[in-house]
Parts: sequence; structure tokens; C-alpha cells
Amino acid sequence: MNDKKVNILVVDDQPAKLLSYEVMLKDLDENLIKANSANEALEQLLKNDVAVVLIDVCMPDLDGFELASMIRDHPRFERTALIFVSAIHMTDLDRVRGYECGAVDYVPVPVVPALLQAKVRVFIELYRKSRELEQLNNQLENRVLERTAELERINADLEQRVEERTRERQAAFAQIHEMQKMESLGKLTGGVAHDFNNLLMAVLTNLHLLRKRLATDPKLTRLIDGAIEGAERGATLTKRMLAFARRQELKPETVNTSDLVEGMTEMLRRSLGPSIEIDTEFRANLAPVSVDPNQLELALLNLALNARDAMPLGGKITVSARPETVAADNGRGVDAGHYVCLAVVDTGTGMDETTLKRATEPFFTTKGVGKGTGLGLSMVHGFTAQSGGAMEIRSQLGCGTTVELWLPTASHGAAEAPVAGSAPATMGGRSYRVLIVDDDALIAEGTAAIVEDLGHTPVQVLSGLSALDVLRVDADIDIVVTDHAMPTMTGTELARQIRQLRPDLPIILATGYAELPNGEDPGLPRLGKPYKPEELAACIEAQMKAKDKSASNVVPIDKARRA
Ligand SMILES: Nc1ncnc2c1ncn2[C@@H]1O[C@H](COP(=O)(O)OP(=O)(O)OP(=O)(O)O)[C@@H](O)[C@H]1O
Ligand SMILES: [Mg+2]
Repeated sequence: MNDKKVNILVVDDQPAKLLSYEVMLKDLDENLIKANSANEALEQLLKNDVAVVLIDVCMPDLDGFELASMIRDHPRFERTALIFVSAIHMTDLDRVRGYECGAVDYVPVPVVPALLQAKVRVFIELYRKSRELEQLNNQLENRVLERTAELERINADLEQRVEERTRERQAAFAQIHEMQKMESLGKLTGGVAHDFNNLLMAVLTNLHLLRKRLATDPKLTRLIDGAIEGAERGATLTKRMLAFARRQELKPETVNTSDLVEGMTEMLRRSLGPSIEIDTEFRANLAPVSVDPNQLELALLNLALNARDAMPLGGKITVSARPETVAADNGRGVDAGHYVCLAVVDTGTGMDETTLKRATEPFFTTKGVGKGTGLGLSMVHGFTAQSGGAMEIRSQLGCGTTVELWLPTASHGAAEAPVAGSAPATMGGRSYRVLIVDDDALIAEGTAAIVEDLGHTPVQVLSGLSALDVLRVDADIDIVVTDHAMPTMTGTELARQIRQLRPDLPIILATGYAELPNGEDPGLPRLGKPYKPEELAACIEAQMKAKDKSASNVVPIDKARRA
């Protein structure tokens, strides 16, 4: 059974012969196409796909040999089976000529029907097999093409993934590089700020004393006031640098953000001027956060001033707060837990990509020399990180800026540090013997001068060991004021040893920054350097008062037993 009938073309100028072929080939059950002349045969060949052509050699217009040559010349019919049918031209020479013209066989006349059928069948079979092979070949080629396309797709996909991975790695490297840069900058800034703080401490202490002694001459006091103001501005700068380096002295408290913002709105309105509208949007029932309220106010003020600078023609600042819960691996660099997200949004100029990238770098400013220190955002960034939170900035040129401060809620359990010098500076008129410990002679000397000026008696030493020596022989020392960062023995270590020697002796730790390693807070009252004479006075007074109070609460053991 044939799937599809194939075409057999019979070419003969005699219709009777054409008819006889038709009868002879009927049993093959294929399509028979008849042509009366060579021209008609060519026409049929061009129109149909023909498996076998039977050609009569003797035809009037074009003989069989010529027709065969013409057929063979056409590339489409190179392999079509041509069979000559002839009563004459049957010599071997004729046959050779026929084969040369492209015939595949030669059938003599009178034609034996069975022979013709057998021959034609063979070539039809061959034709079918060739077609099948062609089809298989095409299928194979298609599959190869599909496979190639698939491989190309996989390859392109792979290349894209390699590119993505490379980009990711480059981004990760850039991030690490940026973190290392900020880390080094932090260390450098912190170190420089610490040293400057000590110098400013000495400058300010001496200036304050000088001012007091020369109070009678207004011209001189004006000059000294100018110097004090300059030194105080320097101290503000070092404070910002320490904040950026995450080494400022923080006094975290439980703070209600909406109350804090509410409390400073009026001050903000005044500082920003009438062209800037301030709006607040606070979610109800926000949890309190654990943060140093003064530093948070300073941070918000910095953000508001930045917003004002970005809105020279006026605009709107919206301060909002919402609760947020953060999971582990959050990509924000904060611990998992509950936070309050405090956002400051402005309608200002916004930042381009480069500015946004560098905005938190210390000393980066676009505001020109003398106008901006470039420490505002660095300080806010350092402060939030040191408070266990994070800062995020989103900005686009022409679309305003959003700065978010993520602050841990008070349930995070941040310890509240004791607040030093918070008691009012009430001079009780009492005079104390104050032991001053500082490895920097300039500072020890300045502090001694203030202490003396306050009406107390200073005893100054340059190390913890010397302080212990003094305490062993001088029982009249009432209070100790010590630096923390000292070689050989730190202020904390000294305090520990003093506690063994004299458990009730008040000790004040004077530090310029948060230099105590984690978990090493000895719970001592602290005084931030550089401090003013009245701050030291208030702190001494508060500690002595606290000591008196605790002494009056102590009931001698035998008295207690009798009661
Ligand atoms: N809200 C804002 N809109 C547009 N640009 C801002 C905004 N906040 C900060 N910037 C850009 O980031 C830079 C750095 O800000 P940062 O507060 O650290 O320093 P500064 O404002 O330039 O100086 P300083 O804070 O000492 O006055 C700014 O100079 C400004 O280009
Ligand atoms: Mg600023």
C-alpha cells in the first residue's frame, strides 16, 4: 500500500501507444500523466513531481534522446528515472547513446507488459525510498537546527548569568571597599577628634579661668569671649566627628518620638523660616524608642536644615513615624526586632546619584567652602548606628529627599546610662579635696585650676597607679575625677581598685567619647569632655550630695539589731 500515489510521465506522439501504456501500468495504481510531444512533456515535468518518465525515442519535433538531454540539464530532474521505449535504435551503440543522455533503462518494442511494470515498479520504489531518505534527512537537519538554537539559547543564558554574577561580585566588592573606607575614615576621624577634644579642653579650661581673673577689663573679656566661642565651635565640630565615628557619649533613654518631635516643632519653625511648611504624621500607639533624646533632636535638626537648604524657594517638610518589624538578614545591618521608622521628607531639589552615594561621607558637602562642614549626615548616620539602628536615604534629582531613621524600640532593652552633671549647679559653699587623674599634664593642670577656682583643693596625678598611692596615704580625698583612656591603667580599672580601697569614694569619669568597650560600663557618673567649669562644679556637687544621702540612709548594724 502506497501512502501517496506518485506520477509516471509517458511521452509518445502516438495516442494509441499512450493508451496501451496506460493499460499496462494500470496495476501499479499510480498516477499516469500523458504527453504527446517533448514540449508537452517538459511542461508536465515542470508542473508535477514525476518519479519515472517513459520516453518514445522516435518523435517528430524533438526525438527522445534530445528530450532526455534537456531533462537531465535541469537541476531539478537530475535524478529522475528516464526509461526509453523504442522499436528501432536498439543497437548497443544506440543504447550507449541513450544511457549517455541520462536514461536509466531501455525497453524494447513490442513491450512486454510484465517487464515494463517490473522496471517501472523498481524505479518508483527507488523514488519512494529516496524521498523517505530526503525526508529523514530534512528531519535530521531540523533537529540539528533546533538543537543548535537551544544550545545557543542556553549559552546566551549562561553568559547572562555569568555577567550577572560578575556584576553582583563587583557590587559586593565595591560595598566591602566602601565599608572599609568608612571604617578607616571613622578610625581616623575618631582619633583626630579625640586628640583635638583634649586640646580644646585645655584651651577652654584656661580661657574660662583667664576670663574669670580678667573680668574687670571689658576689652580683654571681649577678646577672651571670642576665643572661647571659637574653641566651642571647634568642640562642636569634634563632637560631630565623634558622632560619625560612633564614639560619642550617648545617654539612651526611653523616648516617645511623637512627643519629642512635637516638642521641637516650634524651634524648627523658627529656625527654618516662614517659607517652609512643617507637617507631622505620627501613627497612633507608637512604641517608645531607646535613644539619646538630645542627640535625636540634633539629628532631626540637621535633617531639617539640610531640607531647608534644598528648598531655597520654600517647600514642605514632613516628619512622620511608623512602626516596623525587622527580620534577621534584613540587609539593613540592624538586629532583628521592633523599630520605629522616623522619616523626614522634603520637597527640595533632591540629589543626583553621585551626591546620594557620597552624602554620608564625612566632610562631603556641595555647599561650598565655609557653608557646610559635610558632617551633618555623617553624624546622623553614626548616631543611628551607635544607637543600634540605621539611616536610609532615598533621593532623586528634582523629586525631593527622604531620610529615614530606624530606631530600636525600648523593648530592645538598651541600658540607660547614668546621667552625669544633670543636677543643677548649686554651690553649697563646701570645699572638697579633689583627686584629678589624667595622663595629659595640660588637662590635669587645667582641671586643677578649675577645681581650685571653684574653691576646692586639687591634688593632681598623671596615672592610675599614682592615684592609688595618693589614696593610700591621703584619707582626706573627698572625690576623684579621672580620665578613662590612659596607658597602663584605664579610668575604669582605677575605679575598680579604688572601690576595694575606699568603697564609698565618689568617682567621676571624664571622657571625650564612648571609649568604654562593650559591657565594661562601670556605672560611674560621666562628664563629657570638653566641659565647662560650671559643669564640673555641678557634677562634683551632685556626687557629694548623693554620697551624703546614702550615708544618712545607712543604719549601723548594732543599732539595727536593737530596734
Ligand atoms: N535633604 C537634602 N536634599 C538635597 N541634598 C541633600 C539633602 N541632605 C543632604 N544633601 C546633600 O548631602 C550633602 C552632605 O550633607 P551633610 O548634612 O552631611 O553636610 P552639609 O549639609 O553639606 O554640611 P553641614 O551639615 O555641616 O551644614 C549636602 O552638601 C547636600 O549636597
Ligand atoms: Mg547638613
